[in-house]
Amino acid sequence: MQNLIFTNNVESAIERLSTCGGHNLTVWIADVNTSRLITPTPPCLITIPDGDDNKTLATVAQVWNEMERLGVTRHSLIINLGGGMVTDLGGFAAASFKRGVRFINVPTTLLGAVDAAVGGKTGFNYNGLKNEIGAFAPASDVIISTRYLDTLPQQEMKSGFAEVIKHAMLSDRGEFLRLLEHDFNAPINHDDLLERLRRSVQVKVDIVTRDPHEQGERKALNLGHTIGHALESLAIKRQKPVPHGYAVAWGLVAEAVLSHIKSGFPSEDVHLLGNFVRDNYRDFPFTCDDYDELLELMRHDKKSRDGEITCTLLRAIGNYHIDQAITPDDATTALDILRDHMGQ
Ligand code: GLY
Repeated sequence: MQNLIFTNNVESAIERLSTCGGHNLTVWIADVNTSRLITPTPPCLITIPDGDDNKTLATVAQVWNEMERLGVTRHSLIINLGGGMVTDLGGFAAASFKRGVRFINVPTTLLGAVDAAVGGKTGFNYNGLKNEIGAFAPASDVIISTRYLDTLPQQEMKSGFAEVIKHAMLSDRGEFLRLLEHDFNAPINHDDLLERLRRSVQVKVDIVTRDPHEQGERKALNLGHTIGHALESLAIKRQKPVPHGYAVAWGLVAEAVLSHIKSGFPSEDVHLLGNFVRDNYRDFPFTCDDYDELLELMRHDKKSRDGEITCTLLRAIGNYHIDQAITPDDATTALDILRDHMGQ
């Protein structure tokens, strides 16, 4: 299993990891923004372009070429420093180069820290499909810190926070209620946030340890994502993309509504979540004219079977059941209530 290190002393954690493995070479992979976070500039640094548009085979090939030029071998160490794009793509490049070079992830975004960097999913976009090519290849170590988050745009903090809320909904009502008190305008309390990250990541790790290849229980981590992905995909199709976590936050509300209708999830928790999402994830850009397209996207979700819409649902916080079939009528009702709640 992955070694997780929660610390804001990132340099000394990296120093320890890179000196203790007997590596012949340490190579950093960062994007054009995160490469500036490494001071002094290391001798072996591969800088890739940023953004999801560059999460491509061409960028993977660039990394392989530079690994070749730098003389990376199976005894080398790769350090991926960045958000989900860098850890997904850098992880895939490392895992496939010479059939596998050890790599560690140092996520610099909240979304990366609580989701992308942990759990072993690596890959890149292909033929217009997100993360179409990839492998389950866990980083040997993940260093999780809050030190890069002070300068993270609030929109990106909110985006990552939606996944933190999702993990709490899968595990612990006390934590869920505590998270809903979060004020994005207050300065970051690093000790408290690091503790929130520790708890959040542990939820994912526990599930992934039991089901690393998403044959069953790992699908619980898709809570909020059947509807969230449909909203995100439609926004991309219209060339008005929304941050991933905003779509997840809206999806969590809609799927909490479905959980209430189909599984008795308490209405009090639907309201608490709905109010937090309404107050913090504004500008919901969809109307009832979008339902047909949204339902079609839900039917074609990567995880759906035979064109049936399926979701993870909750009976209560911490009590989930995967692969629940949803009728188009149920999904429409959930979208109606979501829209109503978001004031659309
Ligand atoms: N992002 C959900 C998972 O890693 O399974």
